[in-house]
Amino acid sequence: MLRTDPGLTFVGTIGVLENVLTTFIRFLLISSLLVPGQSTTAQEPPDDAESESAALGSNLDAVVEQKIEVLLRKMTLEEKVGQLVQYSVGQPAGPVTGPTEYRDLIVKGEVGALFNITTARDSNAYQRLAIENSRLKIPLIFGLDVIHGFRTGFPIPLGLASTWDPELVQRAARVAAREASATGIRWVFSPMVDIARDARWGRMAEGAGEDPYLGSAMARAYVRGYQGERLSDLDSVAACVKHFVGYGAAEAGRDYNSVEISEHTLREFYLPPFHAAVKAGAATIMTAFDSLNGIPTSANPFTIKDILRKEWGFRGLVDSDWTSIAELIPHGIANDPATAARKAFLAGVEMDMVSSFYHDNLANLVRSSQVPESDVDRAVRDVLRLKFSLGLFEHPYADEKKEAGAMLQPESVSLAQEAAERSFVLLNNSPASNGSPLLPLSPDLKQVALLGPLADDSANMLGSWSAQGRPQDVVTLRAALVAKLGADRVRYAKGSEITKGSDEQMAEAVKTAKESDAVILALGEDAPNMTGEAASRAHLGLPGRQEQLLEAIVATGKPVVLVLFSGRPLTLPWAFEHVSAVLAAWFPGVQAGPALVRTLFGDSNPTGKLVVSWPRAVGQEPLYYNELNTGRPPGKADLTRPPWEGTDKYISRYIDEPNSPQFPFGYGLTYSSFRFGPPQISSTSLSAGTLNRGLLDENRSSNSPLTVSADITNTGTRAGEETVQLYVRLEGTSTAQPVRALKGFQHIKLAAGETQRVSFRVGPDAFALWDDHNKYVVEPARVKIWVSPDSAHGSEATLEITK
Ligand code: NOJ
Repeated sequence: MLRTDPGLTFVGTIGVLENVLTTFIRFLLISSLLVPGQSTTAQEPPDDAESESAALGSNLDAVVEQKIEVLLRKMTLEEKVGQLVQYSVGQPAGPVTGPTEYRDLIVKGEVGALFNITTARDSNAYQRLAIENSRLKIPLIFGLDVIHGFRTGFPIPLGLASTWDPELVQRAARVAAREASATGIRWVFSPMVDIARDARWGRMAEGAGEDPYLGSAMARAYVRGYQGERLSDLDSVAACVKHFVGYGAAEAGRDYNSVEISEHTLREFYLPPFHAAVKAGAATIMTAFDSLNGIPTSANPFTIKDILRKEWGFRGLVDSDWTSIAELIPHGIANDPATAARKAFLAGVEMDMVSSFYHDNLANLVRSSQVPESDVDRAVRDVLRLKFSLGLFEHPYADEKKEAGAMLQPESVSLAQEAAERSFVLLNNSPASNGSPLLPLSPDLKQVALLGPLADDSANMLGSWSAQGRPQDVVTLRAALVAKLGADRVRYAKGSEITKGSDEQMAEAVKTAKESDAVILALGEDAPNMTGEAASRAHLGLPGRQEQLLEAIVATGKPVVLVLFSGRPLTLPWAFEHVSAVLAAWFPGVQAGPALVRTLFGDSNPTGKLVVSWPRAVGQEPLYYNELNTGRPPGKADLTRPPWEGTDKYISRYIDEPNSPQFPFGYGLTYSSFRFGPPQISSTSLSAGTLNRGLLDENRSSNSPLTVSADITNTGTRAGEETVQLYVRLEGTSTAQPVRALKGFQHIKLAAGETQRVSFRVGPDAFALWDDHNKYVVEPARVKIWVSPDSAHGSEATLEITK
């Protein structure tokens, strides 16, 4: 719940005007609450758990509003515009089009926000300029890309999502908030909730994958973790949900590329995580770089004004992305900075990150009546409200003495380890020579060869957005393995670099493998250069000579465990056929080594599940489980052989690769095995009328017209945890619906041999869709339901939704 602190006091002159304003603001507040946020059919899935506060400002505090009005009336037009201006200090992460020296601008009140400052000393120095030297003493707000931890590096978001554990993600975000806020950073540009269906897109690493239901759960978790109980708590930070919207659908997976998404697809897949974050109280939203159906999202009134503001009732701040206002010129919708500023601003983008186009043009646009000053006032209110909500007027400075103590606290580090362990996805674990699965490894192995460029690489473990993560804080796989087995039982050879390597390196690795009982091979991508922003790849194999190294090591005949470090799935068909054990480790953060060693030796049983479909070949991309069936689905056709060898030609398929992924969404092995009984449903018929009435209920998470159950048995020899997934398919509806759509998941822990009945209480949203008029409704339909370990298996139950 996001609340403002009623105890806030603003040091300023509040006179007679105050009473008038109070009355006026109360009127505004009441009327704003009466304005319908959305039509009854334009609602989306509610929170899974308890209902949460609405967007920032739904519970606007009259006292704060009054302070805002008093301040606003004192501001010159230039000072107002100044609040809408944001610059990056320190290392740039993109093109720079504005000034790089901000001191004078701050003193003149022409800057509202700074980012990329990372120490309390620096943030305080800038803040002092604003508080001590500017006319109105309005504090600056400091932001940063705190994406998966600040100093305590957690797994990359794709890894965090692979835990399928929103509660854990919330705790991780809380740690990040505590550490970041200790340096004066009260605004984090996270979570990235872009749906990512294409592994070529490097930014897949930063999000929660391809599914809107899981993506929504993760979006809520981050927002709650960052913003805490109250934004005004000094260890809370405002979330910035990004990139609004559709950015993840960049054509051909090429970053910054154009996007075409129908309104239907936008609503069904791309918008839900944003809406979930808004409903969880997210304080700010960042627009994106992409042009969406021909209109850049940083100047798109349909997405910002119609959907975000009117339908969802968002009352927080809308920020641009880095120079995305300036980029309206190369996009081709403005020929000069003034037009770009006007279009972005009138579309609803309130703050200009980096480009300086608002700074240089907005006041003139107001003076020439091209932009109403009342719109500027509204945007300034949103900035000031954020600053008041965070308590910045009362507490503008970070406590430099407490900064160091906030970092890397033991509980934070142990949470990072837990998160890493739960993020690993076991992809393959086939029997080795003794007939049992290769993993977990025996701690009695005499000699273990540890090979590969990522086996002892601390910097890469921190992923592509490491904030203040430092390589020296990382425990590598090598260090942890030596700690477990002793130096004399671990033989290390790098084998190759990530993108290059020599014959000598490879020969040494092969020799080391031959002299050992088992091999752990740590291969993968270069986190900062090959994953994240501006890191799209056209080829998704192992870079450099790593595939060659892999094949040479496997040729030694030694048992090989392949640990893959990557920000996306990699196409490695040879590896999946020839390597007994493969673990997707993503980039696990500061505790990479201990988490991996505990997992490889069975002290921790892997539980992670894929949140993206793992392709066999790049040509399958974009690849996602919740696709539409098409008019010519392959059904049971044999797609492993070309059509001219059979009859299955005129169907939706490739002639040279199966349609199916290497591993489906939701997939992940454990050291236990589970049997799923058939789903049982409490009713075989539901009425669309009743379900539609259920959609009108704000607290409908407690409204469950159907229960779906299944018996799950641990058929393995050790205790284990399974993520049980609920999927639904609707047939006979006005718009074609996905072949499966995730509607619930639960974690269960079972002792060896134990059976447990798992029940899902299914609410009306599980059956709702965006219809042929883009309304959110339940229609009469035939429904298939699965309770399964992933998106490709399980038996189905069917029910009917009648009128
Ligand atoms: C550009 C990125 O797209 C965005 O995610 C990030 O928050 C900003 N740069 C600020 O660094």
